[in-house]
Amino acid sequence: MSLLTLAIQKSGRLSTSSYSLLQKSGLGPEEPNGRLKVPCTQFPLDLFLIRDDDIPGSISSGTCTCGIVGSNVLQEYQLEHLSSQIVVKRTLDFGACRLALAIPKDLEWNGPRQIKGLRIATSYPNILKNFLKQEGLEAEVVSMSGSVEAAPELGIADAICDIVSSGETLRMNGLKEVLTITDVKAVFICRRDQENSKEIERLCTRFDGVMGAENARYIMMNAKRSAVEAISQVAPGLSRPTLLPLAGSDEMVAIHMVARETMFWETLEKLRELGARDILVVPIEKMMA
Ligand code: PRP
Ligand code: ZN
Repeated sequence: MSLLTLAIQKSGRLSTSSYSLLQKSGLGPEEPNGRLKVPCTQFPLDLFLIRDDDIPGSISSGTCTCGIVGSNVLQEYQLEHLSSQIVVKRTLDFGACRLALAIPKDLEWNGPRQIKGLRIATSYPNILKNFLKQEGLEAEVVSMSGSVEAAPELGIADAICDIVSSGETLRMNGLKEVLTITDVKAVFICRRDQENSKEIERLCTRFDGVMGAENARYIMMNAKRSAVEAISQVAPGLSRPTLLPLAGSDEMVAIHMVARETMFWETLEKLRELGARDILVVPIEKMMA
């Protein structure tokens, strides 16, 4: 089997979650210890720990086979390189944030029309220009590679367009978020010529398994056989529930099922109202459909 190379962010918002997904997927990544190239002990894969902005380029050029990156970084790259050789294989369940417009907190905001004529600092000039064009707005886009949040204070720009996650960076710099430009999530990407390769499919199946298991719960309860249908409606499982006989009772059965959604207390209360007793909800470590 050929050796795959997978690029993840060296340090930043997505680093820990990306590395942890690879660990949970059983790839056995070694401890990085500051290295650029980190082998995996349980999968024919080398990790490349690089700057997130370099990930799409490293895949497009063929240095890396695949990678995990924010959809913002990918979108910016693709708008810049229209013939990019990258495809998104999976949207992952971490790294959710937004690319947003922010202005000094004391400035009044009267809606998108106010953008006209503003100088907006950003590391995502292509996404921003695209947005302005779509909305029919004209503004001056000031490209910056970092510390964008300092631009208004430095007098370089009137507003910024940057990633907002918790909002802490904006608060600390006296800015307020006024408009979402695009929603962002981490994505698993690969080169177009590897799109259907066996190794990439294997990685996708592992990621699906980890993500599926994280939200899913194994539920066990005892109930009357006649209530099984109503119970499956309240807690829809991934497949039909398993029914097991209970010793000494013809009427009662044990119901086992895997539920995809979060089990809220309200759901448990409803199950109880339907006559379910001894309800157990347990996490699932691994899952493969
Ligand atoms: C973004 C952005 C801010 C920070 C916002 O950087 O530039 O620095 O996250 O997060 P907060 O709202 O929780 O304070 P990002 O991690 O995308 O990466 P970068 O350093 O590579 O630009
Ligand atoms: Zn970056």
